[in-house]
Parts: sequence; structure tokens; C-alpha cells
Amino acid sequence: MRPDPLNPDNAGLAGSANDSLQPYWMPFTANRLFKSKPRMFVAAEGMHYVTDDGRRILDAMAGLWCVNAGHNPPRIVRAIQEQAARLDFVSSFQMGHPLAFQLAERIAELAPAGLDRVFFTNSGSEAVDTALKIARAYHKVRGDANRIKLIGRAKAYHGMGFGGLSVAGIPRHRRDFGPLLGDVDHLPHTHDLTHNAFSRGQPAWGAHLADELEAIVQIHDASTIAAVIVEPVTGSGGVLPPPVGYLERLRELCTRYGILLIFDEVISGFGRLGAPFGSTALGVTPDLITCAKGMTNGAVPMGGVIASSAVYDAFMAAPEAAVELMHGYTYSGHPLACAAGLAAIDTYEQEGLFARGPQISATWEAAVHQLKGAPHVRDIRNIGVLAAIELTPREGAPGARAAEAVEHCFAAGVLVRVAGDNLVLSPPLTISPDQMTQVVETIDAALRTVA
Ligand SMILES: Cc1ncc(COP(=O)(O)O)c(C=O)c1O
Repeated sequence: MRPDPLNPDNAGLAGSANDSLQPYWMPFTANRLFKSKPRMFVAAEGMHYVTDDGRRILDAMAGLWCVNAGHNPPRIVRAIQEQAARLDFVSSFQMGHPLAFQLAERIAELAPAGLDRVFFTNSGSEAVDTALKIARAYHKVRGDANRIKLIGRAKAYHGMGFGGLSVAGIPRHRRDFGPLLGDVDHLPHTHDLTHNAFSRGQPAWGAHLADELEAIVQIHDASTIAAVIVEPVTGSGGVLPPPVGYLERLRELCTRYGILLIFDEVISGFGRLGAPFGSTALGVTPDLITCAKGMTNGAVPMGGVIASSAVYDAFMAAPEAAVELMHGYTYSGHPLACAAGLAAIDTYEQEGLFARGPQISATWEAAVHQLKGAPHVRDIRNIGVLAAIELTPREGAPGARAAEAVEHCFAAGVLVRVAGDNLVLSPPLTISPDQMTQVVETIDAALRTVA
């Protein structure tokens, strides 16, 4: 009998070492472990997943920092269904369809003033690689072809393309794939428990770490540097809100030295920090924003780069019949993704998720900091509807305690993500105060169980 994903009695291919599980090479997964003990999800609605054994799991990670409005909002489901029946695909190379232009316009309206040109990709990784390429090409079209160096930051995650990996700063991700791009340097990260443990929102200490860009400029010379890329809030590296004044300082230095500033907002975009973009929430405007995930509420793969008109206009000096940027993807601006994107923005606006951001963030902050004093907890960090609970690692086994705690949470019906020694939380913005309490109580119980 073939499995039926909608039938919990026969959906999950459950059971050990089922041959039918073997062909799928799963990403970022211990394949053999998973296939010996599969964890299958067959449906979702609102704040919950449903597993193949019929359990309802509270999703405290919004899928993977994606479903900001919760799972399967009817407006998005309908928009995708209708679009699939109307126009399945059209290339975006020298062709167009109305939804792509409408979505670009809506995104430009939400983005910080001056960032109003949108290039579509299919993922965050592609958005990052696109932004890095735009940065280099921008300097070249302006006659400054020497500016090729790209500056990332320690603990950063910028997806899995070679460009994003090169500017990223999580060592285990980079280890097996070198050589990566040359001409890259890194700023230090801002994680410091001595000064910042149990900060609420942006920590007070650490703005001076942005001045390390000065040191990098001294080494390489500003005239060789194309761009600095940072996540406004480091996400996969363990939820590190920027110290007060840090991003402002980076902005100032980039402007002073003619370096483009890229904010990777794949996580912080579309409401996660209590405003449409992290840049708006934090009051610092970069030259380029990368986004994805919440762009379609996770429903159809899509990413994008939002560029300032100054960057866009530099390319438009080319002859009118010339392709100004020799770059793009078959599925850039895919009709289904655009339909989902428009419906996602409608959903965020009509459910007041942007407008209620600060209030949701305040309730969230109060909830997660209740875990201060729970066993093993050595830091709690939060901003917007993001948080990390950092645990003291077991001697000689980094990450093991957090991984076990997450297993306990799952058994108790709450999906939490692990990142090193951190329990990482990014629930849909629709989470209720009672559900916040459920998340916190479940983690507390898990921490009392693990050794
Ligand atoms: C900040 C950031 N940039 C880029 C990416 C890569 O996005 P994708 O997995 O859609 O390629 C991610 C994914 O989590 C991310 O968090």
C-alpha cells in the first residue's frame, strides 16, 4: 500500500529502516538516524503541526523562521490555488506578469525609505549571493572595479551558496567545502556573556565592536572593499540582538568609506522584529536588504534583494537595450510565489501583525525571561518574537544537553530548534500568551529532566 500523506494511519512510512525512505537524501539531517526513527509531519494549521501518529505539536519555530502568520492561512492557500489554475509559469527573462510587479511595489512600500527596487530569487541563499554580486557589479559599473572584497561576521549564517558560505562565520558549515571565495574578511561577533548575559532586547555593551571595521579597512584599504554583510540580529548563530549603537556605527563607517552595507533580513524581515523589516525596527537603513522565508509565509519558496534606488540607478546608466545585470534564476518572480507573497502581506496587514509587533514582543520578552534560574540556563536573549535560551554545555559534549532538551520538548508536544548550546525560539507571530506559557513551561520541565 502506498503511503497517503493525508491519512495519519498510513502516512508516515513509520517503522525502522523502511526502504522507501532511502532515496531521499535529506538536507542538514543525520540521514541514517532519521530513517531509523522517522519524525513525520502530515498536516499543519495555525500554531500546530500534526504528526503521522496524530499528535498535535505546538510550533515554536515557525517552521524554520518562516510561517510568521501561522500555518496555512486561508487567504494564502486560496491565492496559490487560484494562481496555479490561472498562470502556472512564465519566464521573467524579457517577459513579465502583473503579480511580480505588484509584489515588488508592495515590498518597496514596506521597506525603509529609499529602498525601492526588488530583485526576486527563490531562497535566502540565492538572495545573499545575488546581493553580493550586485555589490561587486555596482562598484564596477561606477568605474570602481577594484572594490571586490566582501566582509562578513563571525557566527553569521547567510545560506549555503558559495558566496553566502564565504561571508558566513559558523565554522562547521564551512569546513568541508573549501576553498571558498577569496577576498573575504570577517568582523568579530557580539556574543559576550560577561557583559551581556540576560539582556532584554538590544544589549547595552558592544557597539565598539563595529569599529573593528576600521581595522579591516586599515589592512585592506577601503578602495578594495565592496560590501559588508550582517544579519541585523544573528539568527542561526544563536539569536544575538545587535548591541545598542552597533548597527548605527557600521552604517556610519560604510558610508564614510564608500562600502555598501547589506542587511541579511531572511529571518528578521516580514514582522519578526515587530515591524515589516528589522531595519525599520532598529532604525538603521542599509543599501541592500536580502529577504525570503516570511516573504510568502513559507508557503512557496521565494527570496529577494531590495536595493536602494541609488544602487539600481547606477546600473541604469547602461545603454537602454543592454541587460544591466547579467543575473537571474528561471523561477525568479514565479507566479505562485508572487501570489503567495501578495497574500502573505495582506495577511500580515489585515491581522495587524506589523502593527501589534511591539506589544507581542513585550509579552514574549516577559514570558521567555521567566526561564532565568531554570537548571543549566546561563543566558536568555530576546528581540521581537525571537529568543535563545543558552545552556551551560556538558563537559566535553557541546550541544548534547540542548539537543536532549529539545527531544523532551518534542515528546511533550512543543517544537523547539537547537543551535549549538542554544534552544532557539521563533514562533509564528500569532502565538497567544497561553501558548507562550506552554512553550516556557515545557522548556522548564525539559531542563529539569536533562542531566
Ligand atoms: C540570515 C539567513 N540568510 C540566508 C538564509 C538561507 O536561506 P535559504 O535556506 O532559504 O536559502 C537563512 C536561512 O535560515 C538565514 O537565516
